[in-house]
Amino acid sequence: MSKDKSNSNQMWGGRFEDKPSDIMEQINASIGVDKRMWRQDIRGSLAHCEMLVKQGIIKDTDGKAIMDGLNQIAGEIERGEFEFKTALEDIHMNIESRLREIIGDAAGRLHTARSRNDQVATDFRLWTREAIDSIVKDIEELQDVIARLCKDHAGSIMPGFTHLQAAQPITLAKHLDAYFQMLERDKGRFKDAQKRLNESPLGSAALAGTPYPIDREYTAEKLGFDRPTANTLDGVSARDFATEFLFCAAQTGLHLSRLAEEIILWATPQFGFIRLSDAWSTGSSIMPQKKNPDAAELVRGKTGRLNGNLIQMMTVLKGLPLAYNKDLQEDKESTFDSFDAISLCIKATTGMLDTATFNTDRMLAAAEDGYTTATALADWCVMKLDLPFRDAHHVTGAIVKMAENKGVKLHELELSDMQAVNGAITDEIYSVLKVENAVNR
Ligand code: ARG
Repeated sequence: MSKDKSNSNQMWGGRFEDKPSDIMEQINASIGVDKRMWRQDIRGSLAHCEMLVKQGIIKDTDGKAIMDGLNQIAGEIERGEFEFKTALEDIHMNIESRLREIIGDAAGRLHTARSRNDQVATDFRLWTREAIDSIVKDIEELQDVIARLCKDHAGSIMPGFTHLQAAQPITLAKHLDAYFQMLERDKGRFKDAQKRLNESPLGSAALAGTPYPIDREYTAEKLGFDRPTANTLDGVSARDFATEFLFCAAQTGLHLSRLAEEIILWATPQFGFIRLSDAWSTGSSIMPQKKNPDAAELVRGKTGRLNGNLIQMMTVLKGLPLAYNKDLQEDKESTFDSFDAISLCIKATTGMLDTATFNTDRMLAAAEDGYTTATALADWCVMKLDLPFRDAHHVTGAIVKMAENKGVKLHELELSDMQAVNGAITDEIYSVLKVENAVNR
C-alpha cells in the first residue's frame, strides 16, 4: 500500500494516509445512482450559498463565484459533458470537486454550515416531491381515459362478477369507474405524502445544527418547502417520506395489477370482452394466431418490484440508530426504481385502455347467459309476493335450475313453468328478467 497522502480522498482525506481499497471505493460509492439528483443538488447548493452571503457568513465575491460555477456545472451535466467519478463517491462531492476546478479555493466555502447529511436529505426530498407531481399528472391522464370510456359505455351491459362467476348485470362504466375511484385515492395518498415531506432539513448540518448564524427559514422558502424540519437529528435521518412514497407506489401498482389481470382475462378468446390495439399487443414467435397482452402482464408483474422496494427500504430503516448512518445511502435506488416502474405502469395502462375496443355484444351475451338477473327475480318475489328473502331465494333457485335444464335464458321461460314453482307469480315478472331492466333498477 502506498503511503502517498495525495492518494487520499480530496474531500475528507485530511487524516488519511492511504487511499481506499478498490472494493471499499465500490461499496462506498453511490454516484451511479445519485447522479440522478444533480438538479436538486445544485438547486440546494444555490439556495444555501445565497443564504450564506445574505447572512454575511461568506463574502459576496466568493458567493458569486460559487453560484456562477454551479450554474456552469449544471450546463455541463445537461449537455453530457460532465465526467462523473466513482472515486468522488457521490453527486455532492462530484459537483463540489468540479466547482473547485472551475473557481479554485473559494469552492471550499460552499460547504460552510452544511454537511452532506443535511445536503442529501434535502436533495432527496426535493427529488421525491417532484416525482410525486409527475406521478399525479400521469394518474390524472389515466383517469381522463377511464372517464371517457365510462361516458362511452354508460349503457354497455356486462356481467358483474363475484368469485369470478357472473353475478349481477352491471354496466362497463360502473366497472371501470371502480378503478377511477381507486386511482383517486392513490392520488390523494401521494399528495398527502407530499405535504408531509415538504420540510427542509437544510441547516441540520451533520446532526446537531451549526453555530453559524444561518437562516433556515430563508433556504426552506427558496426551495419551496413549507418550513424547516423541527429537529436536526430527525432532519438528517428521517426517511419515512421515502417509505411513504414507496407504499403509495406499491398500492397504486396493486390497483393497476387488478385492472391488468382483468384486461388479460377479458382479452382471452374465452371471454372476448376486449380487443387490445396492435400497438399494445405482442405476437408469439411460434404460434401465429396469438396476440398477447404483454403490457398488461408486465403491469401485473411489476408489482413484484414495487412491493419489494417498499420492504427493502423498511428493512434498511429497521433498528437504525440516530442520526445519519451510511445504511441510508441505500434509500435512493429502490425509490428511483419504484418511480420508474410506476410511471411506466400508469402510462402503459393509459395507452392500452385508450386504444382498446370493447366487444359489447359479447359482454351483453355473457350477462344474459349467466342467469345474472336471478337476484332481481328473487327481489321481485319479495317485493310483489311478500315472500321472505330466504324463500324467494329457493323459488329463484328452482326457476334457474329449470331454465338450465331447458337450455333457455330466464326471460325465455314460460309463465306456466314459473307458476309451477310458485303459483302466485304473474307475468309482471318479465319486467325484471331482462338484464337491461335489472341494470336500470
Ligand atoms: N452519498 C451519501 C448518501 O447518499 C451522502 C451522505 C454522506 N454522509 C456521510 N456522513 N458519509 O447518503
